[in-house]
Amino acid sequence: MMRKSLFFSLSVFLVMLSCSQGNIQKPKELTLSEGFKNPIGFYNPKPTFSWQLPISENVTSQAAYQIVVASSKDLLPDNADLWDSEKQKSAQSTFINYKGKALKSRQKVFWQVRFWNQDNNASAWSSVNHFELGLLNNSDWKAKWTGLDTAKDSIKGVRKFLMHRPQYLRKAFDLPSEITSARLYITSKGVFDVHLNGKDISDDVLTPGWTPYNKRIETLTYDVTDLLASGKNAIAVALASGWHSGRISRGKAVYENFASPKVLCQLEITLKDGATKTIISDETWKGTTNGPIRLASLYDGEEYDANLEIPNWNTANFKDASWKNTEIEVVADSVKLEPKRHTTVKEMVVLEDAEIVSATEKAVVFNLKQNMVGVPKVTVPMKKGDTLTIRFSEMLLSDGTFYTKNYRSAKSTDYYIAAKDGVIEYTPKFTFHGFQFIELSGFDAAVKPNSTWVKGLVQHSEFDVNGTFSSSHEKLNQLQSNITWGLRDNLLDIPTDCPQRDERLGWTGDAQVISPTAMYNFKMHAFWSAWLQSMRETQSEHENGLVPFIIPDVLQNNRASSGWGDACVIVPWDIYNATGDKRVLEENFEMAKKWVGYYQSKSKNYIPTIHSFRDWLQPYPTKGGKMGNRGDTPGSFVNTAYFAHSAHLVSKIAGILGKVDDEKKYKNLYKEIALAFENKFFDKNGKYQNKKQTQTAYLLAIYFDLLQPETKVKAQKHLLETIKNADYHLGTGFLGTPILPKVLDDMGEIELMYKILFKETYPSWFYSINQGATTMWERWNSFSKADGYNPQSMNSLNHYAYGAVGQWMYERIAGLSALEPGYKKIRIAPVPSKQLTSAEASINTPYGKASSSWKIENDIFYLEAIIPPNTTAEIHLPNASKDKNSAVKMVSAGTYKFEIKLEFDK
Ligand code: BGC
Repeated sequence: MMRKSLFFSLSVFLVMLSCSQGNIQKPKELTLSEGFKNPIGFYNPKPTFSWQLPISENVTSQAAYQIVVASSKDLLPDNADLWDSEKQKSAQSTFINYKGKALKSRQKVFWQVRFWNQDNNASAWSSVNHFELGLLNNSDWKAKWTGLDTAKDSIKGVRKFLMHRPQYLRKAFDLPSEITSARLYITSKGVFDVHLNGKDISDDVLTPGWTPYNKRIETLTYDVTDLLASGKNAIAVALASGWHSGRISRGKAVYENFASPKVLCQLEITLKDGATKTIISDETWKGTTNGPIRLASLYDGEEYDANLEIPNWNTANFKDASWKNTEIEVVADSVKLEPKRHTTVKEMVVLEDAEIVSATEKAVVFNLKQNMVGVPKVTVPMKKGDTLTIRFSEMLLSDGTFYTKNYRSAKSTDYYIAAKDGVIEYTPKFTFHGFQFIELSGFDAAVKPNSTWVKGLVQHSEFDVNGTFSSSHEKLNQLQSNITWGLRDNLLDIPTDCPQRDERLGWTGDAQVISPTAMYNFKMHAFWSAWLQSMRETQSEHENGLVPFIIPDVLQNNRASSGWGDACVIVPWDIYNATGDKRVLEENFEMAKKWVGYYQSKSKNYIPTIHSFRDWLQPYPTKGGKMGNRGDTPGSFVNTAYFAHSAHLVSKIAGILGKVDDEKKYKNLYKEIALAFENKFFDKNGKYQNKKQTQTAYLLAIYFDLLQPETKVKAQKHLLETIKNADYHLGTGFLGTPILPKVLDDMGEIELMYKILFKETYPSWFYSINQGATTMWERWNSFSKADGYNPQSMNSLNHYAYGAVGQWMYERIAGLSALEPGYKKIRIAPVPSKQLTSAEASINTPYGKASSSWKIENDIFYLEAIIPPNTTAEIHLPNASKDKNSAVKMVSAGTYKFEIKLEFDK
């Protein structure tokens, strides 16, 4: 067994790569801007270019590169008419700015790249990649917002909020000849599903997604060349409220007070003879609300009546003479129409292994064994005219019935009315639910329920897995699973707090604590960058720099909170560290500065008086009930700490962007705040001046570097005291939890961190696992087998914040982290613990796959590290403090293996 007192005798086996000569393989994995591969409808006419070097014996790094960009494939590589970077001596292989001719809407662009290796030998040219721009300006749109006035039906739903009947819209048109190419540009106020000649044109879900619709609506581009033919054609759109016109937007004026949904689409066709034809949404479209989807709400569910299905409504053969005329609205300049800058939501995973938990003639309950987000697919026998009711819940009550109190006002129920006897198949289209259990009632009672009746279609924004983590410990692996499911379940177009109750909102505090862990696990550069644009747009409505609680801001209450609004500084910083993309810092620098200005405007002697949710949901709060949710670290403390931290980060960002004056200015500001902070909240002995000592008070002060060095050392001791007093349990809420591992790690208290992490009792990470959790919970005590559910209805079983420990699992348990932004330099530094015999993590860095994997067998510690080309790494072998020289290795690309004999002290 390993203890601190052990020492290591070191024997190292390096698998070094030889620098043999030969052909240099071409660069691979070419991407555009935030990781796009050959996109169409691309949003950015000034993209950046990235590539990876091949894994090859003769490539360790890049000495130079050349990018060529042309308007046609045939011009490459020798006649690049848009841009030739020429040979640039540079090791940079990520995020190279395009510096060629101006690009415009619809333009098709082709590019390729080659590099010179460390010996200055040129590689072959990469394969030719391409992109095509979307419609970049409102003036590109000839189409009109089109739809039926559904507001006038005055249908009232939950809490008397106006509901809109989903509408079916269509337009038939003739094409005189065959087609060479066709693009469909489309978006909606609401959410849409579009068909051409009876075919669904994509598997996208709930498009166009959620932005501050009063500022910007995202547009989609589809290549529909193969769906059109000469002769009669038809375009058809199903349209529902979604976020724009649903009660999730709470009817705020900014969202046009529940205005009726509308579609905007422009189908641009090039015919064989070279002629072009454009079909636009306008008043010539026809529409009906007498279709099968009767009602649809993100919170409340969907109602589907198969008796009202309209055969062939989406084909050219359909007669729509009896349908209503549509109403139109012209495209206004004030709301920008911009191509979607991240991926759409899709069905990403299917849970097929349902289990029947209980069944009576009336109702059958299925367990999908994983708390998830999306919709069910039901395949169920029914009797004509009967209504199938589909209910959801995340967990069951002790009597086997559904626990739905935590959905609060979200009805989250789907209905299906059968038009005939027999097996029906149904998947709701315009809603989503957070659930693990499904209850069906209203099926054909003569048939014995079967577990294949339901499947769970997991939906979230489409992004790839970026990293993996696993270990020899079952509960640690379950924690990793719960973290990644918590992420999948809360990244549906925007980062949400929860996916099931009547919130599902872009809470900024939750997002800022989870973003590093999210980026370890998933490729999310574009996702977070897109959300930050919404944040900038929202902040621009507040002259004083306020960043509201949630983005998009449907609360509209003119309030901000410390630890929440700071997402505007912290998330760009996290993205930069994960990717090395400076653009994200440039784009968000002004926003970050204004946010610090907001604190300044609300401060007296550097102590801000703004609202704070504080260390949200800290365990064992002194006060009970809802006020207890805020924890015991006071608002003024949290405000001042975050004010300092944001100022400090702004100074660091300014340094990276070469803004020397700002770097100095914000550094001074940070120091002034830190001084005021220490004077107000700490005594000379590093003790936090408050009767109620909290772990988070010490964690914030230490991690944000707010104390003089001597005070800090003393404060660290007091922190350890608070942990000891909690019997080595964590005592932290949303803000303290993510930094607990980092602070203890910096203090060298690794074993203590492991002790806290491996605690089985409340409050701890494994506690929820012991109670059956398959996702991260909102509260440390959302449920217990002994006492049941937390009595508060604010009790989501799918909230990602406490999953922020995932970052430390990658960085220190497996031992893989970025030492320089974007992994240009990597750190391999695992800290094994006696509870583990192995751990491993891998990450798809911008340079390629990096990994760290270790195991202990017969007292020998084996480490294997993979370092991708064009990076270097520091490899720290455990117990480096014993013998610094032999324990830290500086390496370049390659695969390295180490064996360290563990010997016990006598
Ligand atoms: C949300 C959070 C959020 C919090 C703010 C809750 O209702 O679900 O996760 O950060 O409010 O205090």
